[in-house]
Parts: sequence; structure tokens; C-alpha cells
Amino acid sequence: MAVIALASASGSPGVTTTALGFAMLWPRPVLLVEADPTGGSGLLAGYFRGTREYEAGLIELALTASSIHDGLAEIAQRIEGTTVSFVAGTRSHTQAPALRDLWQALADELADLEGTGQDVIVDAGRLGLLGSPEPLLTNADLTLLVTRTTLPALSAVRSWADAIQRGTVHSQGSGAWQQAGVAVVGDGQPYKASEVSRVLGLPVVATLPDEPDAAAVFSRGAQPPKRFETGPLVRGLQAGIASIHSTVSRRRSELLEGVRP
Ligand SMILES: Nc1ncnc2c1ncn2[C@@H]1O[C@H](COP(=O)(O)OP(=O)(O)O)[C@@H](O)[C@H]1O
Ligand SMILES: [Mg+2]
Repeated sequence: MAVIALASASGSPGVTTTALGFAMLWPRPVLLVEADPTGGSGLLAGYFRGTREYEAGLIELALTASSIHDGLAEIAQRIEGTTVSFVAGTRSHTQAPALRDLWQALADELADLEGTGQDVIVDAGRLGLLGSPEPLLTNADLTLLVTRTTLPALSAVRSWADAIQRGTVHSQGSGAWQQAGVAVVGDGQPYKASEVSRVLGLPVVATLPDEPDAAAVFSRGAQPPKRFETGPLVRGLQAGIASIHSTVSRRRSELLEGVRP
């Protein structure tokens, strides 16, 4: 279907957890790319609890692969029992600048993966950091700002949302995004998704409950709590996936109509 990027404006609202949650429940094969410039693989240290070795990741792709296409296939690791593959991020934030020349080529390659029936979810970490994977954000079919609904969280995300509306997001270190939306974590705590959408002037594409025990399954590899598979977090992720699908499809048909004679 598409390339979907997730990023945050402040704090640690749950980008990595939400990205992995979407990937695990994605209805088609999906590649999860850990492109957070903060470094340290959220997946290897979190979901796999350090039981899985770092083998190769983006840094090897940038420094040693002769072609991005072949290199990507080599470094992508399967998550057994799922149709998810992932590309591990850097081991340290100090490696992020070495990826600067990789991002555009990787963005082009990821866009081509759709032809192979694979979608892509990018964990872009926090916006505006040194080493931020800007070409992945600007080339994604849909970029989701992940945010909590507290006032400090909303005020931080608002400056990005305002820049997106004004088309001046590039002045904050990024080119124009194809399409932006919001993924709300902690709906109703205290503000509701509808209020978030109004304040930010962006559509809320996913609404997730604040469920620390269920979230820990993805963020720390914790034992699933009772009724996890039918619980609010999984249902919220599933509804988010359906909404991502329709948001991307709608824009594509609008674009097609725009070019029709
Ligand atoms: N929907 C959620 N409900 C409750 N806690 C969550 C949720 N999503 C993430 N968390 C928790 O928030 C913390 C930060 O999550 P993480 O995904 O690492 O954030 P980020 O990638 O934005 O830094 C983790 O402890 C994680 O379990
Ligand atoms: Mg993260």
C-alpha cells in the first residue's frame, strides 16, 4: 500500500511502540525501518529484550552495501512467526550523521518496495534532531505525528503542525510532507482526539488508549496481559491501520483525478 512514517515532536509519546504495534498487526508483509537518530535499536533492546544480537543495520547499509536494493534485502531481519521484517537503526546517536547521504536513496528504494507487495513503516524518532531522516519523512505517503494529549505535548507538536499548514515545514529542517496526520496516544488523557484534531488542524488518523501493560508487550517484550488480542490497544491499532489505508487511498485517488484530462 504505502510508506508510512511516524515521528514525535517532544518527549517519548510512544513512536516506537506504535510503529511496532502497527507492523505486528499489518495485514500485508511489512518492513519496519528504525530510523530514529537517537540511536540504539528500540526493537533489539525493547521487544527482543537484548536476546537478539545486533547483526547489521542502517550503518552497514550506508557504509558497506554496494547497492541499497541488495543491501536492504541482506540486512532486513525477519520477526519469526510474523510477516514483519525490520531494519535495525544505528547503535549510537554518534553514527546518525554518517547516514546523511543514505536517506534519499533509501527513501527511493522504500517507495519501490510497494511493487513487491511490501509496505513500509518508518520509526523516525523525534523531529528536528541532528541526523533526522528528513527524506524519509518527506517521501512517505503519510507522516504521522505521534503525540500524547497533555498541554505540554500539544504545544510542542503544534509548532510542527503550524509549519505543515503554512507549508513552511522546511524552515524547521524538513521539506514539505506529502500528507500529515496525527496518532494520538492516551486518548482522553486529558484531551480527546477530536479536540487534538481541532487544535492542531490535522486529521487524527489513529487513536490509541493509554494502556501501559499492553504497550509493554511491544516496547519491552513483556508478557501479554489478559485479553490482549481483543483489548483496547490492539483494537485501536487495528482501527488505525484501517484509517491509514483509507487516508492513503483517498489521497491517491485525488491525485489521479488531478492529473486526469
Ligand atoms: N498506548 C500506550 N499506552 C501506554 N503506554 C505506552 C503506549 N505506547 C507507548 N507507551 C509507553 O511509553 C513509553 C515510551 O514508548 P516508546 O514507544 O519507546 O516512545 P518513543 O519511541 O516515542 O520514545 C514506553 O514505556 C511504552 O511502553
Ligand atoms: Mg522510540
